[in-house]
Amino acid sequence: MKKATVTVPASTANLGPGFDCLALALSLRNTVELYETSRGLEIDVEGEGEDRVALDATNLIARSAEVVFEKAGRRPAGLRVHAVNGIPVGSGLGSSSAAIVGGLAAANALVDARLTRDDLLRLATEIEGHPDNVSAALFGGLTLASHSGDELLVKALPVPPLKVVIVLPDLRLSTAEARAALPAQVPLKDAVFNIGRALFTVQAFTQLDFELLRFAMADRLHQPYRKALIPGFDEAVVAARKAGAAAVALSGAGPALAAFAPDRHWDIANAMKAAFEAAGLASRTFVLPVDRQGVQVQVSVTG
Ligand code: HSE
Repeated sequence: MKKATVTVPASTANLGPGFDCLALALSLRNTVELYETSRGLEIDVEGEGEDRVALDATNLIARSAEVVFEKAGRRPAGLRVHAVNGIPVGSGLGSSSAAIVGGLAAANALVDARLTRDDLLRLATEIEGHPDNVSAALFGGLTLASHSGDELLVKALPVPPLKVVIVLPDLRLSTAEARAALPAQVPLKDAVFNIGRALFTVQAFTQLDFELLRFAMADRLHQPYRKALIPGFDEAVVAARKAGAAAVALSGAGPALAAFAPDRHWDIANAMKAAFEAAGLASRTFVLPVDRQGVQVQVSVTG
């Protein structure tokens, strides 16, 4: 029996000013195993979201695998999907991108479709609708993406070792809801503000310059509109800064927040947790190193 095993990292997208353009891969992984079987589709999921994700052909891993089978013109007789999720679902930590990249990369290996990482990136961006989380999931490290119509350019930049504080309030907020909160148009001065800050955010990460990050990680394009959906957002940001964070951003579309600091990571996490608690929300805390590997793929044949 042929089996493809893929592990995919979580990611924190936007990084403040880099809306839909910047992301950082994080060392928290989902594993996707695809098995060639004699017929049908079986799916089982363990770990994060095991009682929330679809277990039929609408499952995001299965749908993504199907895109590769379609493109390759080759498919297994039957398919078993076994997912072990470490990434919380609907959290702003790139769980849907991990499912998409996991499904695409595992299917690519299972049927030997020979799609390159760039091919997978394009397919993943089409399925996800924006390239930031899928880029980090595929390449690891800090990723820069620019996407418009058919044009897509992604670069992965190495970053020095860095730990990221993640605080995930217990709140259901879908990416669709968080995107619906955004205006269709923004003032030119806000766009210019974000361009400048995004440039310096990249510089701050590649040099690991926390003083620069303190200045750079500011946003006027999405966070001001989204924070109303997250009780305790402002208080958690203030608490993080008081506890030693150089910068704080909404992680992707939220509801998780990401805080950046050279040290005192757990103090920052606990201070943010206390701020959410005061706003009536329980939360989960993580301190995650940056992932520098991106998606990892293995194929085995048994029996
Ligand atoms: N850039 C995306 C957003 C990430 O902020 O909506 C979430 O998928």
